Amino acid sequence: MIKTLTRQIREFKLPSLLTPVSMVGEVFCEMLIPVLMGRIVDEGIYGGNFSYIVSTGLKMLAIALLGLFFGIMGGFFGAKASAGFAKNLRKAMFDNIQTFSFSNIDHFSPSSLVTRLTTDVTNIQNAYMMILRMAVRGPMSMVIAMIMATVISPRIASIYLIAVLLLGCFMIFMMGTTNRYFHQVFEKYDELNASVEENVTAVRVVKSYVREDYEIGKFQKASLNIYRLFCRAELRLALVNPAMNAAVYGCILLISWAGAHMIISRTLTTGELMSLLAYCMNILMSLMMLAMVFVMITLSEASAKRIAEVIEEKSEIRNPENPVMRVPDGSVEFRQVDFAYDRGAGKPVLREINLSIRSGESVGIIGATGSAKSSLVSLISRLYDVTAGEVLVGGIDVRNYDLEVLRDQVSVVLQKNTLFSGTIYDNLRWGDPKATDEECRRACRLACADEFIDKMPEGYNTWIEQGGANVSGGQRQRLCIARALLKKPKILILDDSTSAVDTATDAKIRKAFAEEIPDTTRIIIAQRISSVQDCDRIIVMEDGTISGFGTHEEMLRTNAIYREIYESQTGAGSDADFDRKE
Ligand SMILES: Nc1ncnc2c1ncn2[C@@H]1O[C@H](COP(=O)(O)OP(=O)(O)OP(=O)(O)O)[C@@H](O)[C@H]1O
Ligand SMILES: [Mg+2]
Repeated sequence: MIKTLTRQIREFKLPSLLTPVSMVGEVFCEMLIPVLMGRIVDEGIYGGNFSYIVSTGLKMLAIALLGLFFGIMGGFFGAKASAGFAKNLRKAMFDNIQTFSFSNIDHFSPSSLVTRLTTDVTNIQNAYMMILRMAVRGPMSMVIAMIMATVISPRIASIYLIAVLLLGCFMIFMMGTTNRYFHQVFEKYDELNASVEENVTAVRVVKSYVREDYEIGKFQKASLNIYRLFCRAELRLALVNPAMNAAVYGCILLISWAGAHMIISRTLTTGELMSLLAYCMNILMSLMMLAMVFVMITLSEASAKRIAEVIEEKSEIRNPENPVMRVPDGSVEFRQVDFAYDRGAGKPVLREINLSIRSGESVGIIGATGSAKSSLVSLISRLYDVTAGEVLVGGIDVRNYDLEVLRDQVSVVLQKNTLFSGTIYDNLRWGDPKATDEECRRACRLACADEFIDKMPEGYNTWIEQGGANVSGGQRQRLCIARALLKKPKILILDDSTSAVDTATDAKIRKAFAEEIPDTTRIIIAQRISSVQDCDRIIVMEDGTISGFGTHEEMLRTNAIYREIYESQTGAGSDADFDRKE
């Protein structure tokens, strides 16, 4: 995990190195100042040497300025290194998410990916900055201050040691309990993000079901949980400051008392006592810094794990060693195919599927919801890999193809299709970035999308909102079909893609396909018999198996399920075709 993350520091190694170096410079400057101050008192004030006061004062000023410079450089390089590190982490995650297969996507919820890309990265960024600046500075300034103090007076230095030990124990105890709460906070963040994400993406459904109050309640609960946990954690952290103050003032008191005795017995000078008091502050402040570093490290540990998970996730569906770069034809064959979601571990969704579709054939698929129609076709463009058996396109196992080549030739209009923000042209050109305006228009004509696009004031330059929010369901489906057509695929798969289109337009689209792209294998999943009945052959799915495969007439004769669907949709009193435009 550490390796995965540190690899992302890459071009920010230099600032990452310069930050602690600058901090070391700052510490040295800070450590010199108390010594000089002591000398001013002892030799300048007590010795009555004014010019010594001035020259040492100037030296102190120069050293303080140098310290300031180092401090600023430390801050500058620290910010650069940590922000750069965060940028690389985000990029590495995003890049890897793009390679995810469908089953990888099933594995991570979108809200958790968003948390990982934002909150978790910010945590790491802050922790990294802190570590770079404090992890070296803290211990170093503590050790140097301790040595300097011991050189001046070993007796007084022992007071520090006791204070450091006591305060250290207290901090360790506090951190243990605080961390537990912080860990819980991050888990709750996921819940909160999930609640927001779900609500915002489905806000229309929430409104139409008047579920706002329920959603507000759900959000409040997640939000309240975080509030409570933070309160508990911060309450404990709040105790750190008083403890710190008690230690500092306790030390000052003890040192002043012991120091005063020593000054009277002439074993310590006033200037030395002043230096010791300054070191006392230094040591305890460093301890505090160290404690903060520890808190940050443990806090970011959970974040680091979650980020590494995303970067390390390997896409299950990858290109083979020597991929086939050409799809010979549009034939499809399933041989003894079994398939289960959840990386083959779930319950089997498809069992022993054998079927063969000729190139250029039009095939309809019909069956009850959940009978695994979508699952069946998702194997053809290798959105998922089979659990057993093989799927062949153009006579070659889909796992042997270059993924891009395969998916260009097998164009799928997914059941859960979506459009992206951009103009209609932009959206269409997802299918083929080089398509000319004329080609875009032809694809829209085939998908019967031209009729409504022409009516829009800006035509093909109309802006589509994110997710296609400003077009109707049927319009969106037709744009998605046009987009898929622009790929000029050998196999076109429509997964329930005309469900929101009226039957007359649906028929027109099918007719256009038959006339204009007769060589393309067409696989059409539909709920309406009318959408599939004029296909060359029809597959009837039942609970993950093929119950029948043949022409409309054959299925009517031999397949009970098909007959039942047919009768329910065309029988007396049925208004299945009420929307046909005559
Ligand atoms: N991503 C997924 N992860 C796990 N299980 C899934 C996933 N997608 C579908 N399933 C399960 O697989 C089964 C078949 O689903 P599938 O989507 O293939 O049905 P379908 O025939 O297309 O249904 P519909 O007509 O409603 O679209 C269902 O039981 C469903 O719960
Ligand atoms: Mg489906």
